[in-house]
Amino acid sequence: MLEFLRRLPKVELHLHIEGSLEPELMFELASRNCIELPYATVEEAKAAYEFDDLQGFLNLYYQGMNVLRTEQDFYDLAMDYFKRAREEGVVHIDMHFDPQAHIQRGVSLDVVMSGLLSAKHDAETSLDLSVGMIMAFLRDRPAEEALQVLEQAAPYWKSLDAIGLDSAEHNNPPIKFQAVFARAKEIGLVRVAHAGEEGPADYIVQALDVLDVQRIDHGVRCLESERVVQRLRDEQIVLTVCPLSNVSLKVVDQLRFHPLPKLLEEGLKVTISSDDPAYFGGGLLTNHIACAEAFGWGADVFRLLNLNAIEEAFTSDERRKELI
Ligand code: HPA
Ligand code: ZN
Repeated sequence: MLEFLRRLPKVELHLHIEGSLEPELMFELASRNCIELPYATVEEAKAAYEFDDLQGFLNLYYQGMNVLRTEQDFYDLAMDYFKRAREEGVVHIDMHFDPQAHIQRGVSLDVVMSGLLSAKHDAETSLDLSVGMIMAFLRDRPAEEALQVLEQAAPYWKSLDAIGLDSAEHNNPPIKFQAVFARAKEIGLVRVAHAGEEGPADYIVQALDVLDVQRIDHGVRCLESERVVQRLRDEQIVLTVCPLSNVSLKVVDQLRFHPLPKLLEEGLKVTISSDDPAYFGGGLLTNHIACAEAFGWGADVFRLLNLNAIEEAFTSDERRKELI
């Protein structure tokens, strides 16, 4: 099974590139940019990655990305992950990135975009890895700020595949971003959003109805409402479920109690992703192996999940055919 999972050409739809920052690279970038870290060693950083909830993780996530300052830093961040993912048999990644988290710290949008776009270019030309770009907005920041960043990103609209919505879900309902998502639709950008991770099933409905999203990131709390499950099944909306993330952030107690098997039983269009691999215990292959152990899934289940991801991936039809 391990060899099958390693060889299976895997597609990841839910990955925050800032969440792929391994402590080793964090230390390297801190030293390059003369930044002091709150940890003395890589081991100390790793030991600090114990979370009670989403907010506990987000605090360390935003702190960690403080080492990213230059175009080269963003390039190195992305390439470091792309190479590791490729070694694990990943062939396509839809990558979220959080411009507001960088602009706030005085790092320009151009620095972020140039670094990430050149890494995407090099991955596609030299690693045989295709990359989709999802510009995510922080739902715990004002919607006006998100709208401003979307307008500021005009030179990059053609390089984006979608906009997304992430960060702290509690008390930040999708409806807060109605205007931002309406503007993105007007521009011709696809929309996705995190919903039903820590927030209620109702946020999934809002994301579909008010933000007109094409896929739901996480979505596991849909099971709290039969109506929402029915809707997701009828419309075959893709859910990008992140098993090890859900365990780390205590959305579920243990992987063997994760609702993934139930989501599949309900006929939902499920995919699996790593979310923030540097913080949650591993990348896409590790998530696959953990699911095989926890649920006893055979090759057919993984092939189905991967096919769901291929169908939904932000890539050309030509590339999609290659991936199938
Ligand atoms: N949830 C919400 N926001 C995020 C996450 C997540 O898992 N990772 C990075 N930003
Ligand atoms: Zn996420």
